[in-house]
Amino acid sequence: MKKNLTAVPHALNASQRAAHYGHRGAVMWLTGLSASGKSSLAMALEQALTELGYSCYVLDGDNIRNGLNANLGFSPEHRTENIRRVGEVAALFADAGLICITAFISPYRADRARARQSCGDAFHEIHVSADLATCESRDPKGLYKKARCGELREFTGVSAPYEIPEQPQLAIDTAREGIAASVTKLVAYVVRNVPLAS
Ligand code: ADX
Repeated sequence: MKKNLTAVPHALNASQRAAHYGHRGAVMWLTGLSASGKSSLAMALEQALTELGYSCYVLDGDNIRNGLNANLGFSPEHRTENIRRVGEVAALFADAGLICITAFISPYRADRARARQSCGDAFHEIHVSADLATCESRDPKGLYKKARCGELREFTGVSAPYEIPEQPQLAIDTAREGIAASVTKLVAYVVRNVPLAS
């Protein structure tokens, strides 16, 4: 706790919240290149888990950068601040008892490590590992094209780094498997690691 601040205890603890929702809180942290499939997977996972009885919410890069993080760009410092804030918000969601699914490139290992620290045991790193050539051939927003012709600077994979996770809890290669198979894998992972009370 910082100077002149005093932690205020909640009247509810994690077990009481888990009893309320039927599962513990958790963070499913999806990381990968632009167009690797993070957002599609996150939204499909949110829907599939909700149908099973989980309470979930997706934090997505493009959405969060439109509001909470609207003052941030794509320099290394701004990306670090983007991920710091998202790590803190995700930790709050997990503390509240929800499954928080995040979809951010989060290219720097140190930033992801800090998010893991903020979230504690609730944190699960999932590498959406489609390779650059595949992501670039998809280019749904035309951003790779802009990056290649120099219209867009500091673009991840082209003119800014992506540091591959060394030991993710799960890796999903959307270049090799379709969305449906990938979501099935993700759902199985969540059911195994954050079981629903029977
Ligand atoms: S992160 O690097 O800070 O984690 P984040 O996931 O929030 O990035 O935002 C990535 C999204 O911003 C991309 O999906 C893309 O639509 C958009 N974007 C705009 N400029 C860039 C850029 N220079 N590098 C990467 N993504 C960019």
